[in-house]
Amino acid sequence: MKTEIIINKEKNQVIKICNSPKMFKKELYIYKKKLPYTPRLIDNDGKNTLILEYIDGISIIDLVQPDFAKITELIINLHSLESKGDKCICHYDNNPKNYLYSNGKYYMIDFSEWVYDYPETDLIHFLLFWASLYDSDKFKIVFDQVINTYKAKRMINPLEWELMIPEIISRFDSRRKKYGKKQAHPDILKNREILKNII
Ligand SMILES: Nc1ncnc2c1ncn2[C@@H]1O[C@H](COP(=O)(O)OP(=O)(O)O)[C@@H](O)[C@H]1O
Ligand SMILES: [Mg+2]
Repeated sequence: MKTEIIINKEKNQVIKICNSPKMFKKELYIYKKKLPYTPRLIDNDGKNTLILEYIDGISIIDLVQPDFAKITELIINLHSLESKGDKCICHYDNNPKNYLYSNGKYYMIDFSEWVYDYPETDLIHFLLFWASLYDSDKFKIVFDQVINTYKAKRMINPLEWELMIPEIISRFDSRRKKYGKKQAHPDILKNREILKNII
């Protein structure tokens, strides 16, 4: 069974029916924290259904110029919630569709896959989407903005970064294949080289 989303704009609500109890538990765990950058949890059935506040906005992929510093702040906030050694809560599915923009504010949604992992995993995965969309000049700016914003508040481990990249690229590529995503930007390989250069 696939996850079902029912949007009720009149009621300002979104019903999300998760396709597994595990997914539901993960979503609930984050929404119960009442974070300022996630939709408000209105109700849940204790099994698989969540009722969330509807964010009347758009995905960051549809913005002409997303504010990557502000978006990185969301990732920083999520990562700062809990730690397990060097690991933290990672969103894991950093598809731009899981980042919304409404009235000058950015939101994170879809916590069905979060895991305790090294923070580098989210940053690399997030950047891979933009590496497949933007030309190299634009991607370099995004890369610097994300990394510099993150580093101002939290550490990035360069060794972890280097070691994790191949595995995350492989996850990224196999998912894109599975969901038949449109062709990537011709600069994708150049961008992935830029992505490797963390200091
Ligand atoms: N609270 C919300 N407010 C506005 N739109 C939402 C909300 N929750 C989900 N959506 C929309 O529905 C899409 C799918 O929801 P999501 O929770 O990401 O489920 P999944 O990706 O697992 O199908 C999102 O990309 C977004 O466009
Ligand atoms: Mg999603």
